[in-house]
Amino acid sequence: MIRKFRTIASDARLPQEFHDNHPETELSLSFANGSHTRPEKISDHILCRKIKLKKRHEIERLFKVIPPLMTLSGVSHIIDCGSGQGHLDRLLTIIYGYKIHSIEMDCDNVENAQLHDKTALEYLQRLKMTQLEHSDMPTKVNCFLKSGQHIDEAIEAIDGQGVVGEHLLLGLHACGPLSNMILEQFADNPKCRALVLACCCYMKNGKEKFPMSQYLGERMPFVLSREAKEVACHAIEKFLEKFNANELDSLRVHGYRAILEHLILKHDPSKKHTGMRSVRIDSSMGFKQYGLKASRNGDTIWANIPDDGFDSEEIQPMLEECDRVVLYYSLRMLVAPIVEALILLDYEHYLAEQTGVKSTYVIPLFEPTLSPRNMILVAHK
Ligand SMILES: C[S@@+](CC[C@H](N)C(=O)[O-])C[C@H]1O[C@@H](n2cnc3c(N)ncnc32)[C@H](O)[C@@H]1O
Repeated sequence: MIRKFRTIASDARLPQEFHDNHPETELSLSFANGSHTRPEKISDHILCRKIKLKKRHEIERLFKVIPPLMTLSGVSHIIDCGSGQGHLDRLLTIIYGYKIHSIEMDCDNVENAQLHDKTALEYLQRLKMTQLEHSDMPTKVNCFLKSGQHIDEAIEAIDGQGVVGEHLLLGLHACGPLSNMILEQFADNPKCRALVLACCCYMKNGKEKFPMSQYLGERMPFVLSREAKEVACHAIEKFLEKFNANELDSLRVHGYRAILEHLILKHDPSKKHTGMRSVRIDSSMGFKQYGLKASRNGDTIWANIPDDGFDSEEIQPMLEECDRVVLYYSLRMLVAPIVEALILLDYEHYLAEQTGVKSTYVIPLFEPTLSPRNMILVAHK
């Protein structure tokens, strides 16, 4: 059942009300679905420059949902929270002409997004493929959204362009607390008419943010630990691919990472749980080689681990236990989709409990092997 829940949405599985409301556009997007090949159409080539395959796939899929939802809820304005490099917003503006505010806390992301917008627009203008001007491109709002803050007020304070009207609220892989903020914003702000949200990093959510719905709040017989929320971020499909392709050696990386954590705690406890470089391993790669790759970047050494720490005597018995970590990891993977389903269904209940909400959906929109957080929450008032 869970597998069915996560299976990619074909057109046929999108809600009927979306099929009936798909606007026509002059410029279209026809990226080869999931293909690495160079797009044939010049417009596609311009539109998808610098956009990674995963992001292209997500954008292509979101184009089946966002435009019909805009029509259904009668809005032409989008507020994107955590817009990153702005690829989705740029294409939504160029192709559909929507007015967009892109809110992003990281100023490097904002600068890159502005540069990409400018380059794409100038190309299209030179080829006379668009009527848009620079002022039509997404407005960048460089700010850190805080819980309890009204997003439209944050925009008005920075943009200075008067009152923000009715809009669709968007969050594509909004990490942890940002997802909760977006959900609360949709609930509290009558001007938010529709919502499209792909969550990620569930473990970063505050304890008080689960469950969010009254329904589950009254019934929840247990507390979700940080570890449970963390495992919900893993895609069982990728894991199964490795299983089916007999690439179990690569799963040893989890055992290696556990030993590396032991060394980190020993040599520099302040780096506990720090993200290390991700390293693909195969049967020929030993722990030392892995450890050096994961913890070194040129001359930079993380966590003060000396080179001989990677083959010290204490490591050997741990290496012999490595497969038990893989076994434990596999058992955790079995419950991962159940935890994610629980979180998302709680969020959906929360949305459905709000006044004026007409429909809510949890849609498995992305191909999970390409984009592991593949479910989106959709609602409109
Ligand atoms: C996982 S990225 C996704 C970026 C983009 N939506 C995409 O899919 O390409 C999440 C983005 O949200 C931004 N972000 C996270 N929390 C934020 C907050 N509280 N306020 C503003 N931006 C935030 C991060 O800087 C990051 O660029």
